[in-house]
Amino acid sequence: MIGRPSHVKWYEYSYRADAIIQSRLSFRSPASDPMELVKRRLRLSKSVTRHPVILPFASGITQYSISWGRRTVVEIVFLGASNPETGRMIRSIQQIDPNFQVAGFIDNDPAKRGTEFLGYPVFGGLEALDDLLRRDLYFVNLITGSTRARYETSLELARRGCRFANFIHPSVELTMVELGVGNYVQEGVILQAAVTMGDNSSIHMGTLVGHESTIGNSVFIAHGCSVSGKVEIGDGTFIGTHVAVIPRIKIGRWVTIGAGAVVTKDIPDYATVVGVPGRVIKLAEPVYADGSIASQNR
Ligand SMILES: CC(C)(COP(=O)(O)OP(=O)(O)OC[C@H]1O[C@@H](n2cnc3c(N)ncnc32)[C@H](O)[C@@H]1OP(=O)(O)O)[C@@H](O)C(=O)NCCC(=O)NCCS
Repeated sequence: MIGRPSHVKWYEYSYRADAIIQSRLSFRSPASDPMELVKRRLRLSKSVTRHPVILPFASGITQYSISWGRRTVVEIVFLGASNPETGRMIRSIQQIDPNFQVAGFIDNDPAKRGTEFLGYPVFGGLEALDDLLRRDLYFVNLITGSTRARYETSLELARRGCRFANFIHPSVELTMVELGVGNYVQEGVILQAAVTMGDNSSIHMGTLVGHESTIGNSVFIAHGCSVSGKVEIGDGTFIGTHVAVIPRIKIGRWVTIGAGAVVTKDIPDYATVVGVPGRVIKLAEPVYADGSIASQNR
């Protein structure tokens, strides 16, 4: 089944206590000043932390790495040294929180090994992990061109013991939104109330995801899409640029939706859909049942 039972209220289906309390706090008394919200979230994280836990980084707003109530630096390794937009996002987050640090990049292109990208070192490919895993680092996968490549590389990182951080532009409002780890959300994305997002998914610039919609694991949604309310998107699904999805649609797992499509009907698993209205043009052979990296990651 995709998504969660409809009778469960938005604040009950969070699997992290800190997320539940943060959502409730924000819901009760929304802060108009972003820095006030930062301070509240930091205070709250401290107050609910009883054990040395690492909370995933979420947004430019501080919500991470609280150890025995002390806030520490979070250092990130990015997978994929190619998109300069990453540099803009790093700067936007650091303007709010200088404790967000970048260790460097890994990239499987041997020509990039030992070079710099955006002023940070490229350590090499996955063979560099042995050294990196000796350090206290978090990983963010920037691969988005193929959900299969994103899933397979994240799965490999998880199997090797890497911990994932969320990489989310500070412009993205996360109040009453629930998300897992390893997600990459670009500038100007709107996630409406009670949206839930799994692990290892990515949404590009300017996409709207309507209220109570559910995004699975290892999903990619390109820029400028409009996903209406109560839509369910299964694991591994790829949604091309400027796609529109009408309300309450269920999109299966490992679906591909072509650029500019208008989705007006439920879509079965492994289908490719194009056009207005969207029509299924092919069904792929199943390769993966889901896009979860959770069993390796929790
Ligand atoms: C749908 C898509 C994935 C191609 O899938 P594919 O399985 O390789 O399909 P093909 O290229 O073989 O095309 C199959 C048919 O669909 C049509 N088609 C392909 N993409 C289409 C689209 N976006 N809208 C309408 N028709 C499309 C082709 O013209 C072709 O039609 P024909 O059989 O009458 O000649 C690709 O065209 C697409 O839209 N990708 C999204 C790219 C994108 O938005 N990336 C985000 C960047 S951040």
